[in-house]
Amino acid sequence: MSETPERELSVCRVEELEPGEPMLLETVPPISVWNVDGVLYAIDDTCSHADASLADGDLEGCLVECPFHMSQFDLRTGEPEGLPATTPVRTHAVEVRDGMVTVLVGVAARPEGTPVGG
Ligand code: FES
Repeated sequence: MSETPERELSVCRVEELEPGEPMLLETVPPISVWNVDGVLYAIDDTCSHADASLADGDLEGCLVECPFHMSQFDLRTGEPEGLPATTPVRTHAVEVRDGMVTVLVGVAARPEGTPVGG
């Protein structure tokens, strides 16, 4: 991870990202963007254990549960909590620019996330 993004993705207007409803970006690799009670996070969407989309998982607080084998991933850090996954997924910094949610791919997110107000 670096401070210089690999690329910047303009995702949507901030009001389109509903709390608890992830937005899946069909990038390579896929990235999901999350609104947890007004705080934005972005992670690599594919589970580090196998080929599951974390955007299909259940969200509880900042933990998303993989729909395949139930490992949970912390959106703040990308770290798995509970087997079988043992490898974190990447987090990506999020900015709100003129009301647009922008993902800075390859720049690690701050654990406190990004408030919807920017
Ligand atoms: S595919 Fe996610 S825990 Fe197995």
